[in-house]
Amino acid sequence: MKDKKVLNFGSLNIDYTYTVSRFVREGETISSKDLKCYSGGKGLNQSLALGRSGAKVWHAGAVGADGKFLVEELEQAGVHTEYIHMMEEPTGHAIIQKTESGENGILLYGGANQKITKAQIDETMEHFGEGDFLILQNEISETIYLMEQGYAKGMRIVFTPAPMNESVREYPVAYTEYLVLNETEAEGFCGKGSLEEAIKKLSEKFPSVKIILTLGKQGAWYIHGKETYFQQIVEVPVVDTTAAGDTFTGYFVGAIIRGMEIWQAMAMAAAAAAIAVSRPGAAPSIPVWDEVKYVINTIK
Ligand code: RIB
Repeated sequence: MKDKKVLNFGSLNIDYTYTVSRFVREGETISSKDLKCYSGGKGLNQSLALGRSGAKVWHAGAVGADGKFLVEELEQAGVHTEYIHMMEEPTGHAIIQKTESGENGILLYGGANQKITKAQIDETMEHFGEGDFLILQNEISETIYLMEQGYAKGMRIVFTPAPMNESVREYPVAYTEYLVLNETEAEGFCGKGSLEEAIKKLSEKFPSVKIILTLGKQGAWYIHGKETYFQQIVEVPVVDTTAAGDTFTGYFVGAIIRGMEIWQAMAMAAAAAAIAVSRPGAAPSIPVWDEVKYVINTIK
């Protein structure tokens, strides 16, 4: 399986991260203590995590002239970038409020991410086939079409329904092999309820799908039919939680591609996410494989 290719058709964002003492409220103006600009986007973050985990990854998507540095960052991690289109539209960006305890709130501007067309998808998908992985999030246009095309080709689809919105309920989620989501995204599918209810409802709704429910500090669950597995977090001082979920997903898939068992992939993903939350920023916080192995060996 190691020679299988990974296509991540996903967002590329410029992240403007403002450090605040608390999130701004409606009708209010507050001052931030710091501003940093990072590479980000759920797609780019997942591609970097996959690349740093050693997978053969192609990132497809779109940026404007202001986003060339995002493409360069992917290339430095060994991610192939020939299917990223340069557009007149500006690159997507995110305005991120980050508190001193590391929590974040994100406002997105889609920009070039929302200009992906069926034609770009068709051209890109010609280079991939049965058994290759297709990684998707919900930050670009034409995600339903991508799922349909990937499924028709027999690709192994991994979907993160983030950001969650009304339209995600219409997506053909049953086409996916892995659905990786957090509590808020789970609520979007099943409504509010306890953890047990969410697990039950998700597995009834998507019986064929391998579900990974990430719960922040409360760890993560793997659920597939009657098979369940719980992964606890690796405790670290939290600096910035941005991209923790993306790092988890990228490392989980990277570990599966390396032939690891589910429990090993969950452990690698949790260790990688822990390293990411202990560092500032999105993309720059994502560790390389050896760092993750070191954490795994240390906690044993
Ligand atoms: O998941 C974190 C990412 O969400 C950030 O990098 C930001 O760009 C948004 O896409």
